[in-house]
Amino acid sequence: MAQKKASKNGGLYDKLTAYGDTEFSKYLRTVFLKSMGYTDDALERPIIGIANTFSAYNSCHATVPTLVEAIKRGVMLAGGLPFEFPVISLHESFSYPTSMYLRNLMSIDTEEMIRAQPMDAVVLIGGCDKTVPALLMGAASAGTPAILEVTGPMLTGSYQGQRVGACTDCRNFWGKFRAGEIQEEQLPEITDQLGPTPGTCMVMGTASTMALMTEALGVMLPGGGTIPAVQSQRLRHAEQTGTQAVAMAGSGLTLDKIITPEAVENAIRVLLAIGGSTNGLIHITAMAGRLGIEVSLDRVDQLARETPVIVDLKPSGEHYMQELHEAGGFATIMRILAPLLDLEQKTVTGKSLRQHLDTATEWPQTVVRPLDNPLSPEGGLSVLRGNLAPGGAVIKQSAASDALRTHTGRAIVFESVEDLAARIDDPDLDVNKDDILVMRNAGPIGAPGMPEAGYLPIPKKLAQAGVKDMVRISDARMSGTAFGSIVLHVTPEAAIGGPLSLIETGDIITLDIPGRSLNVELSDETLKERANIRDHKPRRTAPSRGYAKLFDESILQADKGCDFDFLVKK
Ligand code: FES
Repeated sequence: MAQKKASKNGGLYDKLTAYGDTEFSKYLRTVFLKSMGYTDDALERPIIGIANTFSAYNSCHATVPTLVEAIKRGVMLAGGLPFEFPVISLHESFSYPTSMYLRNLMSIDTEEMIRAQPMDAVVLIGGCDKTVPALLMGAASAGTPAILEVTGPMLTGSYQGQRVGACTDCRNFWGKFRAGEIQEEQLPEITDQLGPTPGTCMVMGTASTMALMTEALGVMLPGGGTIPAVQSQRLRHAEQTGTQAVAMAGSGLTLDKIITPEAVENAIRVLLAIGGSTNGLIHITAMAGRLGIEVSLDRVDQLARETPVIVDLKPSGEHYMQELHEAGGFATIMRILAPLLDLEQKTVTGKSLRQHLDTATEWPQTVVRPLDNPLSPEGGLSVLRGNLAPGGAVIKQSAASDALRTHTGRAIVFESVEDLAARIDDPDLDVNKDDILVMRNAGPIGAPGMPEAGYLPIPKKLAQAGVKDMVRISDARMSGTAFGSIVLHVTPEAAIGGPLSLIETGDIITLDIPGRSLNVELSDETLKERANIRDHKPRRTAPSRGYAKLFDESILQADKGCDFDFLVKK
């Protein structure tokens, strides 16, 4: 078989260092390449970059070195030459103040390294929550053919005969600990079991959501969204991904040809049908924005009304990612959701979603429900509007309590994440189970970085009295693994003067999920009066240098995907 050669303008002699003498640039590059032992034959092959996101600070990416080896094998089997290179890696628990603060930095790193280095196609290795959107945002802006592989979900553990996993159960156990139902001595054994293997959280958190949305977008080889991190099938998938990257080299199949407006809508449908993370909405908005595609919250809500939740996974349902994989993974979701999807959308293989679905095997399963017997008749997320959130707010309604879907209560206001931490467990806090907990100044600018602090804890004295859920409202985000009647992403955020900044303890708020509204019982005049007398001093000093300054000056609100304004394609 004839070996595929790099096109004249591609391969290692693309993107030459600017010495002012092209031939000298090529000659010098050859010297350094040969210093690594490459033959002239090797240097003529299509070059496949592999964005390596291994980091000792990222447990969800512990398997990346073995994935890189498998991808390289696939590249070489197809006659390409792999070049791995590092990009920033982000883990949820190892990113201060929050991984969201750094997502755009990772996307800039990815974009610029793809732009700067010679490669005919690139394999992106994502996994932990922010890594997948950051990589896709960067690759979309860079405009080089790209394919994504995820690390895959963890397997589950077992505690006292109960199946457990990260991180819905992490939150369940923590809630029980706060309520005094489990003791501190039990925590080491519990933490031994919650993350028993490498991989990403194995519930429908942000990582699983983004993996399935990526498959829906067509940017991953079929089946890759659900294969557990530690199964050999993951390595075979990675090898095939490397091989596919060689086929994509020089093909012109860049992400703008795959991530079309219709593909974005498919991904949003999938987000809704899987009961996916609210973060998925922010990320798809940012990814689409890199290609000039606008995601409207009103359209999302319209799709949510027509799209039932069909995947029975925690936190909305009962199962874990392993069972979804055993049930056929994304192909099963796509088969059932087919009437609501545009299956003619092209994928990284050049084939359509429909062509892939036609070759996927079908067998009996119970994890993905039929459309006429869904977990919830409407999509996992709802968009709320009202005088408290004129720019919109989001609730994961599939994880909210039935009794609180329509609720009026007295606001108990916390000024910030720090204020919440300081007062929530105060025995003297005047709060009861029908109150609505409100936290502000935790939005994109306020915190900064919009931390996943929207899962406000139930005040300890109420938790100990058996209260499991309350309405909670903030301009923060929430982990996809969390659950409860929690309103998030209130826009505009308090730090830029949104109505959330004007609420006082004792105000009456009404949440109406079926009516899609979020209102405070205050007239426009009262809100205006409060705005006039409000202390306009910013809560924190504006940063004067570095990334913090760039972030502060450029970050967009949640409804625009929290991208930097100068990165969005106009
Ligand atoms: Fe990485 Fe959950 S912390 S996927």
